[in-house]
Amino acid sequence: MGRDRAHGERMTGERETGGLSAALAALATVETLEIFGRVTAIRGLLVEVAGPVAAMRLGGRLDVVVEAGGAGTVPCEVIGFSGDRALAMPFGSLEGVRRGCPVLVRDEAAGAVRPSQGWLGRTVDALGRPIDGLGPLPQGPAIYPLRADPPPAHGRRRVGAPLDLGVRCINTFLTMCRGQRMGIFAGSGVGKSVLLSMLARYTAADVAVIGLVGERGREVQEFLQDDLGAAGLSRSVVVVATSDEPVLMRRNAAYVTLAVAEYFRDQGAQVLCMIDSITRFAMAQRDIGLAGGEPPTAKGYTPTVFSELPRLLERAGPGTGEGAISGLFTVLVEGDDHNEPVADAVRGILDGHIVMERRIAETGRYPAINVLRSVSRTMPRACDPAHLPTVRRARKVLATYADMEELIRLGAYRAGASPEVDEAVALMPDLTAFLGQGKEEATSISEGYARLAAIVGGG
Ligand SMILES: Nc1ncnc2c1ncn2[C@@H]1O[C@H](COP(=O)(O)OP(=O)(O)O)[C@@H](O)[C@H]1O
Ligand SMILES: [Mg+2]
Repeated sequence: MGRDRAHGERMTGERETGGLSAALAALATVETLEIFGRVTAIRGLLVEVAGPVAAMRLGGRLDVVVEAGGAGTVPCEVIGFSGDRALAMPFGSLEGVRRGCPVLVRDEAAGAVRPSQGWLGRTVDALGRPIDGLGPLPQGPAIYPLRADPPPAHGRRRVGAPLDLGVRCINTFLTMCRGQRMGIFAGSGVGKSVLLSMLARYTAADVAVIGLVGERGREVQEFLQDDLGAAGLSRSVVVVATSDEPVLMRRNAAYVTLAVAEYFRDQGAQVLCMIDSITRFAMAQRDIGLAGGEPPTAKGYTPTVFSELPRLLERAGPGTGEGAISGLFTVLVEGDDHNEPVADAVRGILDGHIVMERRIAETGRYPAINVLRSVSRTMPRACDPAHLPTVRRARKVLATYADMEELIRLGAYRAGASPEVDEAVALMPDLTAFLGQGKEEATSISEGYARLAAIVGGG
């Protein structure tokens, strides 16, 4: 009896499931509306698409169907319109695309990611796909668009307490605060990557999100394995678009880096967000602009480069809640041209700049930071007033020595001519040792000040 009843219930259950699956099966036969355009021309990196242009939107996703049956598709992003055509750029190779290829109009933005805590320790590409061979990435519940707006200026918290970066030269002379954004200006091979890896490992942050934009493929592996190492990687997410990847991937890697940082900020974390380099992002944006018909202005850079830079960099900073994104962005300055347009624009947007010099690297002092040419705009407020006399004295000694350096090296300075210069000459070896720091060594803010005070006194 009992068994019969159970059987009966199961029957009912089956009947209901049957009804549901029948309904689902019926639903599956209802075709979702697919909108197609067609490739009419390919000019350089640009794909022209004709068809229902009104259904396409700027920043929207198109899939160019390469082979009949949709076996291969090339994802593209709409970057503009011209006449009755949409202009799109590919996220992959255009190999095999011909005139007349169908183009599926997708009703979504070309890029969005769904980060989760499971992204820590992982390396992703500019589409948020894992590229470290460690299997699928756990997706989070919330969608983070690649192009988010910065938090509203009036809702933002103030820049927070000093952030210990573990690098004594920056900690003492150029103290950075939580939510501050600094630029690192340097030529190639001056030690940016090694410095970034030190900051990623030693900074008192919860998470580091590192965007490697336009690097050579070989350098990426070197950075991950030699510089960052397993310990550094375990609390980092690395976003990579190498120099050989399509221009859209290189630009979007910077956006993905910020989107992932925003996710962790929204979880209440202190996030260190680093992009190496902003110059390669600007170059990618320039190439997209030029392909889309923008006029070149300063050094071939197009106007959108200078509107996109603040939109990107302003996304770092304090949030409206507990979490904050502290930003460090490298800028390439070749041939010591610190007035190059991108460097100029970035300097104007950020809250300070750290200048690295080849001349210093050549003397074997790493990180090759020129303290006198570097500025942290929050420094007077961020620094504990007790330490200010020490910093001022050390800066003065450095400046005195820098003024006389040529003469001293040439042997044209006679000891005893100026007590100030004599003192600078005497203190310089210790100061030089202080400014240099091995990559396996970390120094906290308080240790740094104690060491500096021991050298120059005053604190
Ligand atoms: N803190 C450091 N200690 C010792 N050597 C360093 C340090 N930083 C950089 N170097 C040297 O400089 C070289 C170039 O550094 P890297 O960070 O790759 O430069 P960039 O990223 O600016 O091109 C490194 O291979 C290393 O030999
Ligand atoms: Mg490098």
